[in-house]
Amino acid sequence: MSGKIPSSFIDELLTRVDIVDLIDARIPLKKTGSNYSARCPFHNEKTPSFTVSRDKQFYHCFGCGAHGTAIGFLMEYDRLGFVEAVEELAARCGLTVPREGGGTGPDETAARENFQELYDLQAGVARFYAAQLREESGLKAVAYLKKRGVSGEIAARYGLGYAPEGWNTLERHFDGEMLVRLGLLLQKEGGGRYDRFRDRLMFPIRDRRGRVVGFGGRVLDQGEPKYLNSPETPLFKKRQEVYGLFESLKVQSKPAFLLVVEGYMDVVALAQYGLPNTVATLGTAMSADHLGMLFRHVSDLVFSFDGDTAGRAAAWRALETALPAMRDGRSIRFLLLPEGEDPDTLVRCEGLDGFKTRLAEAMPLSDYFFAQLGEQADIKTIEGRARLSREGQRLLDTLPDGNFRILMRQRLAEVTRVAIPQKSTTLHEATSARRAGATSLRPSLWQHVVGLLVERPELARHVGAELRRWLENARQGDALLFRKLLEITDIHPHMTSAGLVERFRNQQEDHEILLERLQKRLEAGAVDAEKGFVESLKQLEAKRRRTETARLRQALPAGDAAALTEEGKAALRGMEDKIKSRKS
Ligand code: UTP
Ligand code: MN
Repeated sequence: MSGKIPSSFIDELLTRVDIVDLIDARIPLKKTGSNYSARCPFHNEKTPSFTVSRDKQFYHCFGCGAHGTAIGFLMEYDRLGFVEAVEELAARCGLTVPREGGGTGPDETAARENFQELYDLQAGVARFYAAQLREESGLKAVAYLKKRGVSGEIAARYGLGYAPEGWNTLERHFDGEMLVRLGLLLQKEGGGRYDRFRDRLMFPIRDRRGRVVGFGGRVLDQGEPKYLNSPETPLFKKRQEVYGLFESLKVQSKPAFLLVVEGYMDVVALAQYGLPNTVATLGTAMSADHLGMLFRHVSDLVFSFDGDTAGRAAAWRALETALPAMRDGRSIRFLLLPEGEDPDTLVRCEGLDGFKTRLAEAMPLSDYFFAQLGEQADIKTIEGRARLSREGQRLLDTLPDGNFRILMRQRLAEVTRVAIPQKSTTLHEATSARRAGATSLRPSLWQHVVGLLVERPELARHVGAELRRWLENARQGDALLFRKLLEITDIHPHMTSAGLVERFRNQQEDHEILLERLQKRLEAGAVDAEKGFVESLKQLEAKRRRTETARLRQALPAGDAAALTEEGKAALRGMEDKIKSRKS
């Protein structure tokens, strides 16, 4: 593997780059008070809740909760990998990215070059397939497209092509080893290799940036399997890609909603009939990654499924996957089609208006949830309602905090006539509570100082020796996180909040928590952070003394009083005095 990028370089980079300029070049920002704002690029909204802080070098959105540093922004918005994002920022400031262990890690450079070669080669293969449609050999594919009513314009927009008959076409034009890596060429048992796709209509699958990452291939007319797809490769992760997103966003960069269908042909047909905002999963179930990506572009999704049993089962699975993503402001609707039909056949027979009528009638997730749940239990009986209540609560517990969660729980209580405990903790709260551990202190106090220290790293100087000694025993939770932060802020008191958060990128849970704390701090608005920090530290110190005294008293009868530290003895005396004065 490569040399790691030194964290000192990331710190440096984040002090040189200005996140306001970086974002402003992509989304024009308006100055509002001490911050900058715009309509959020990660969800659809009418009034701006996307805020960028020059001070903290951090962006966050009140509406959808998106947040991060300049690096995080490039990763989300430009869809870059971490290393790519760092390189992009470095290039803006005229810096070269150094690598630990000397030089620019040769392995890493080699690996990246190969990647680029793989992308280039795959783009070449896509062009080759497309060109076949203009050759003698491709006439049958053209005839097939005509038969299915696909226009030339749409075939070109989606880069459709034809993989010719014959077992050894591609290797005559492209590098064999690389074709094998891309799964386009298969190795035979006894040596030799052959083309994966033969005599098939080809659908190139492009990522968000338009790079060909894989292919789907359909038999012309009859044959098994009907569709063949590229295998997972270094470029192609089926759970992370959807078909048609790039093509869709090229036509409408800000569609009102995205329609998610099951088939490549459905995407192509709907685009041709005037619904370019359609995408398809790649023969796999909808994943959380898919949802995350789609919700980055729109806040309304419509899922279309066959009306048959398999389609309903798939719809319910999609619903379960979607619940944790249902933040306020997002919506998902379900479009269940008549049995035996798919969007392709429907739009061709009912036309765009007919299909739009169906879309308008798609069922909101909330209604679909209760309708399906109701079918699983008999709400006329107490037993049925009890089951419904338990199952419903289990599912609704996966919803993120917000009004949607509250309303869904209310509705469940109404339907089942079972009151739901006011506060069943959300997943997030459960994690935080688990993390609070370590000491008997209220977690909120540690959480608070963690948030303030990320916001103002220079406040570290206020943390006294007493508290530091105590922190040495912190093994988990926010106390530990606070100690980890101190280890950095003591050395770099003037680093940016963004730089501090980036230091934790490899410790995923901590990274997430710090991003959230910083966002909460920014949303809390102007408070005197320094005063709050000092005050909280005082409370923590007081608590520490109380805990210590209690511990000493407990230990005393069995323990050896002489072993107590001077401080311990003093604490104990103080406590005993207090008890005496209370008695008298
Ligand atoms: P469908 O069988 O519904 O295909 O599969 P379709 O898109 O309607 O195709 P036409 O109209 O018959 O041409 C839906 C999706 O499931 C995956 C493909 O991604 C396909 O688009 N699939 C289907 C496979 O991966 N392999 C198969 O054998 C069949
Ligand atoms: Mn079909």
